[in-house]
Amino acid sequence: MKSFEQSEMLARLPEQFFAKLVKKVQHAKKKGYDIINLGQGNPDLPTPEYIVHSLRSAAENPLHHKYSPFRGVPELKEAVCKFYKRDYDVDLDPEKEVAVLFGAKAGLVELSQCLLNPGDTALLPDPGYPDYMSGIVMADAKPVFMPLVEKNNYLPDYNEISQKDLKQAKLIFLNYPNNPTAATATKEFFEETVEIGEKHNICVVHDFAYGAIGFDNKKPISFLQVPGAKETGIEIYTMSKTYNMAGWRVAFAVGNPSVIEALNLIQDHMYVSLFGAVQEAAADALLGSQEPVQELLEIYERRRNIFVEGMQKIGCDIKFPKGSFFAWMPVAEGYTSEEFADMLIEKAHVATAPGNGFGEHGEGYVRIGLLTTEERIQEAVERIGKLNLY
Ligand SMILES: Cc1ncc(COP(=O)(O)O)c(C=O)c1O
Repeated sequence: MKSFEQSEMLARLPEQFFAKLVKKVQHAKKKGYDIINLGQGNPDLPTPEYIVHSLRSAAENPLHHKYSPFRGVPELKEAVCKFYKRDYDVDLDPEKEVAVLFGAKAGLVELSQCLLNPGDTALLPDPGYPDYMSGIVMADAKPVFMPLVEKNNYLPDYNEISQKDLKQAKLIFLNYPNNPTAATATKEFFEETVEIGEKHNICVVHDFAYGAIGFDNKKPISFLQVPGAKETGIEIYTMSKTYNMAGWRVAFAVGNPSVIEALNLIQDHMYVSLFGAVQEAAADALLGSQEPVQELLEIYERRRNIFVEGMQKIGCDIKFPKGSFFAWMPVAEGYTSEEFADMLIEKAHVATAPGNGFGEHGEGYVRIGLLTTEERIQEAVERIGKLNLY
């Protein structure tokens, strides 16, 4: 069979680090091990019933069997505005300041195509969600990493970025509550970010994927709550985590109208829009009872407590996550992240995500996804405890 050469753009793409992890887990399962998988970021609970019900009835409406409007169903964009007003007291224009996306992942990759030319610079967190890099590489732009370290509460230190990089940067990616460190942002940090964005003419992209998941009664703040944020950037919000809708592929971008226009424009050329029934159900999710969101938050907080208290008891210096459904766990002495993760699969039959897969500064940690039952999380702690690592 003839094999066609891939484009230069595809050849540039980074290796999918976590594909390797999936293979290791599959391999261990084939050996007959009962693996507790804390390595993935896939929500384990179902979408709340009222949202599924809404999709079911919307699917029967012939209106949705046609192409949906190019730039999204107006009812969803209006629901997004009501949601931002209700939850964050942020005012948005549904026509100019909201773009409907095929999941946050798609939007985050599109953004680099929208705003970067070959050779341009983009700032991104290290460790960080890998898809920021995918988009930057596709645009043939240059990544400049901002280290996220414990002593700075995993917030980038803008003073450490060279003046040259700040001058050249066109885009900055941020994400709080953070994947993988589970840190949250402060208002002061976002204010500083707005200043940096304005001074250097950098578009700020705040990925608010875990916006609903803040612990100890502290609701994570939206970037758009800070004065001037809309002038200098956008926020991306996904339905995947808040409403357990990861498989539905629906998210939205909100904020600066010129960036929203750019996202809509690229999508005009790539797609029509999402299935209208999905958009209708997403609108109902945003405006319906938010009780399931509260219940989900309580579930993640209980899981967090079981894991972190358990690990602290066996001597691990792990901190309580402030948000997201992850925990950022230091490895035991003498191991690299990857060695530690491999050893845990082999000896405790517990899968974790090695921190170095998220960037150089993730070395020394593994990411724990709290995406299984309390019993399984407790069992994972007990199995790790038996290894006397700490
Ligand atoms: C930080 C972060 N951003 C974006 C996404 C992707 O969200 P979506 O399901 O909307 O593509 C994820 C998913 O794991 C994530 O962790």
